[in-house]
Formats: sequence, C-alpha cells, structure tokens
Amino acid sequence: MICTRVTANGPRASRQASAQFIKTLNCLNASGAGLRPTFVAVHHIQLSAAPQRHFSNTSRSSRIDEYFPQKETEKVRKTPSAWPHPVYSYNDMESVIVAHREAKTRSDRVALLAVKVLRWGLDLATGYKHDKAVALNEKDPEAARRKYAMTEEKYMMRNVFLESVAGVPGMVAGMIRHLHSMRRMKRDNGWIESLLEESYNERMHLLTFLKMSEPGWFMRFLVLGAQGVWCNALFFAYLISPRTVHRFVGYLEEEAVITYTRQLKDLDAGRLPKWEKLQAPQIAIDYWNMPEGHQSMRDLLLYIRADESKHREVNHTLGNLDQVEDPNPYVSEYKDSERPHPRKDLKFQRPTGWERSDII
Ligand SMILES: [Fe+2]
Ligand SMILES: [Fe+2]
Repeated sequence: MICTRVTANGPRASRQASAQFIKTLNCLNASGAGLRPTFVAVHHIQLSAAPQRHFSNTSRSSRIDEYFPQKETEKVRKTPSAWPHPVYSYNDMESVIVAHREAKTRSDRVALLAVKVLRWGLDLATGYKHDKAVALNEKDPEAARRKYAMTEEKYMMRNVFLESVAGVPGMVAGMIRHLHSMRRMKRDNGWIESLLEESYNERMHLLTFLKMSEPGWFMRFLVLGAQGVWCNALFFAYLISPRTVHRFVGYLEEEAVITYTRQLKDLDAGRLPKWEKLQAPQIAIDYWNMPEGHQSMRDLLLYIRADESKHREVNHTLGNLDQVEDPNPYVSEYKDSERPHPRKDLKFQRPTGWERSDII
C-alpha cells in the first residue's frame, strides 16, 4: 500500500507532524520491501493543497502562514544581510552555461568520482531520472512524461535537500583555514571570507526555498543525517587534501548549474505551470536586490543558477592554486586592472575556473 495523503499545512501541520511521521513509518512497514526513498521523501514534502499559500508570500494569508516569519521587536526595524550580494545583470545571468572541467590529475578524478556517487544517491532519493526520461522520451514522449515528469514539488524537494548540504563545505573549509591561520600564526590571504560568504549564500538559497515549501519530518531527518556524515567527512577530507575538496565542490556546483538549468528549461516549456506566475519571496527580493518587474520564480532561478555558476568557478579556481601561499584572487586587487581577472560578479565568467598562471 502506498500512503499518499497530502500533508496538511499551516498551523495544523505542526500539531500533526509527529503523528504523521509515525503513521508514515507504519505505512512503510505495511507496504513491505521495495519502496524507494523517493516515495518517502515526496510524501513528506508535499506542497500545500492550496498552492498560492506556500508558493508565494505576496498575499496577506501567505504572510500569516510563513514558515519562519520575521520576529518583530520593539526597537529593531530591519536586519539586513551580512554580506550584500553582488549585482548581476540580466544578460550575464542568461549567459550562464552548463560546463564541465576535465579531470586532469588523480585528485581531480577522485573528486569527480565522489560527485558521481553523491549525484546517484541524490537522484535516487528525490526521484530525479533525467537520463532515463530522455531515453524513453525519444521512443515514447507521452510515456516518458507520465513516468518521469519532474513536478514543482519534486524540484522543490530536491532544491531544499541540495541547498541544505551545499552550505556545509564553505563553512567547514573556512573554519579549518581559520584555525590553520591561528595555529601557524600567519595570514590566510583572504580565503576564509569568501568561503564563509559562499556558505552564507547557499543558506540564503535554502531559506528562500523554505519560504515556498515546508519540509516534513522525514526530510528534516534526512538533512540531519546527511549533515552529520557530510560535515565530518568534509572536515577530514579538507585536512587531508584541500585541493581535492575544492575540485569536488567545483564538480558539485557543475551539477547544481545543470539542475537549475533544467528547471528553467522545464519552466519555459510550460511543464511547471504552478511556477509560471509565482513571485519570489520577499527574502529573495531583498537579498538579490531583484528589480521591479524581475521578481518572478523564473528570475529567482536565474539568480540562484548564477550563484551556483560562481561557486563552480571559485572552487575550480581555488583548486588550481597553491593552498597555503596564494592569495584569494576574488578579493585581490590586480596590478593591471584592465585585464580580465576573477571578480565576485559575473563580468568575467570562467566556468571551469581560472588557471593559476593567468592570475597569480
Ligand atoms: Fe545553492
Ligand atoms: Fe552552490
């Protein structure tokens, strides 16, 4: 038996969450072996039966139901972002491309293999079967649509999980470099800030998606478990080989760009109707400084994809540098400022990273 009851949202959800979780486990037991994690996660990340409440926070009712409403205090008017987001032009965001850096060294190949394994696990957990869908689509488009179509809910679930783990590497790397700098009593040459800023940016992605969906207990459990393993694994990996970890994150971000590009493509093709008129939540409008007339879900996906492309470039670039001595090229000033060089915005894009000889 498959338990498909839509999870209630709003105030009732919190009261029923524990009972719902136990009920789901019972359903799982009753259904026996063969249930894929896809079902489990989808079941608990159902979006609202009345989509406007959870897909948008522009209406009064949706503000009331916000997942984590801003706490009003007597004296504080506003708490702006600690790291203001760089300005992206619309053209630059549209010009972001899917790219892959060839694995050249053994360390690169280890990093790429690790990403492939993770990607396989995430695809399994979130029911994302793009390759199979493409293959079946060539033979029978209608069957492919019925069997593999990604819905707004599935994409949202994938995004929440992806972003919840994406915020970890920068924080771990930044912390290790911070401790390393103090231990060696030497400067870090500007890497720490960029790494922490990256994890902050990823967390903003997560908070934005959380304004549009409410993860159930099972997703929280998955995130908790993933974080426990993921954070510790990254900690030891960064101690052993920071270069490999940066390359690994570069490859991971390549996947993130692919994922958001597919969402944009599906949205443009009319396959995600609930997102067509959806507005970005206020937290996103404030953080990215989204201009009037460019505050839709599509615009939001463009901003997030552009961020991922930046993470891809930054980490591939850091993976090319001397991990101890080289300055962070993204916060450095250059002797010849006219020549293209790494920047925080999208002006000079290098999807596969800057080579050391070009910038150091
Ligand atoms: Fe992200
Ligand atoms: Fe990212």
